[in-house]
Amino acid sequence: MKVVVVGSGGREHSIIWKLSQDNNVKKIFCIGENYAISRLCKTIKPTNEDTDHLVEQIISLNPDLVVIGPEAPLSQGIVDKLENKNIKTFGPTKNASKIESSKIFSKKLMIDNNIPTSNAISFENYVEAVQYANNKGYENIVIKADGLAAGKGVFIPETKSDMETVLKDLLINKTLGKSGESLLIEDKIFGPEVSVFCFTDGVNYSDLIAICDYKRVFDNNLGPNTGGMGCYSPPEFWNKNLEEKIKKNIIEPTLLAMQNNGTPFKGILYTGIMITQNGPKVIEYNCRFGDPECELMMPMLNNNISDIFNEIANGNLTSQVSWKQKSSVCVVICSGGYPEKYITEYKISGIDKLSERVICFHSGTKELNKKLVSNGGRVLVLSCLDTSIKKARENIYTEIDKIKFSNSFYRKDIALRAME
Ligand code: GLY
Repeated sequence: MKVVVVGSGGREHSIIWKLSQDNNVKKIFCIGENYAISRLCKTIKPTNEDTDHLVEQIISLNPDLVVIGPEAPLSQGIVDKLENKNIKTFGPTKNASKIESSKIFSKKLMIDNNIPTSNAISFENYVEAVQYANNKGYENIVIKADGLAAGKGVFIPETKSDMETVLKDLLINKTLGKSGESLLIEDKIFGPEVSVFCFTDGVNYSDLIAICDYKRVFDNNLGPNTGGMGCYSPPEFWNKNLEEKIKKNIIEPTLLAMQNNGTPFKGILYTGIMITQNGPKVIEYNCRFGDPECELMMPMLNNNISDIFNEIANGNLTSQVSWKQKSSVCVVICSGGYPEKYITEYKISGIDKLSERVICFHSGTKELNKKLVSNGGRVLVLSCLDTSIKKARENIYTEIDKIKFSNSFYRKDIALRAME
């Protein structure tokens, strides 16, 4: 089987790492630039960000299966375009991707179908939004841009003026462009957060895997939000009872609602959940693998991933998806300045010195003058699977300083709370 993977981050590296161990897969192409991926398969630079160009590039490779990593091409309908050309593709259609690409769509889906979530109202008008937000009180709300915003669309105001600035920026100054022209003002809810993933063909779904991630850039959850600085699984509060509740009250009604809506969801459903005093409530959905969560999931997966991808692309997931009953931790190594401005093309060394207990996935790297250099804010991800979170964590933190590049940094508290 010939597989084309779209995307160039650590998520796509881990998918290609898994595909390259799969006996059914004879050839892999990746549309994206990444040093480590280029060591596993042929990489092709996207000629253009435009989906039609991407589709043409993919068709020219005559693949048996296509796997789409990032949300942007999914939300632009790349799956619909490929399926119209009879190319089997793993990922949701444009309309099903709205579960991530429109927070207003997903909130309505939840409220209409009694899927537990916090109350929210949508706004396009600044004056109305400010009035509503002031009535609620800045400390009781979360503001969410409707559209995709690369992790920068959720705001938890810390003062009244902070709240008004956010609303003005989004609705008047249009700092997030179209993505922020409409927004949700949600009631703030409290509790530990967990990301729950399942493979689904739209009707059948796999066993869940539950992962906790760290979004803030600095230790103790300080600093701005990022795409993710690390994660671990299983969460210390995860148990069968909670899992069953989430399946029954959230996953099953979500899949059913998407079917009834005429937008069945096939792919990997990523549900962000808060465990409140009144039970689990959905914070958001994503229509793709998380990053770095995928770098944790791929080593945990027992199956041949091509079977799962193929069955879902064919609309019939029959494989019994099985996750290793182990613990896992991922820590992301970033370039100084991330998630704001950062410098690229730093020479990276030390990966060859890492113990085999730790897998190093590349998030933002490339080859320059035959050398490995950084090519993003998130640069590398160390992933480790062991018999306990404590061991997985220790393995990573004893190895991580072997990796050297200018201005690098990482969080030192990933998974620490799982041991407290
Ligand atoms: N790590 C969070 C995300 O992928 O959205």
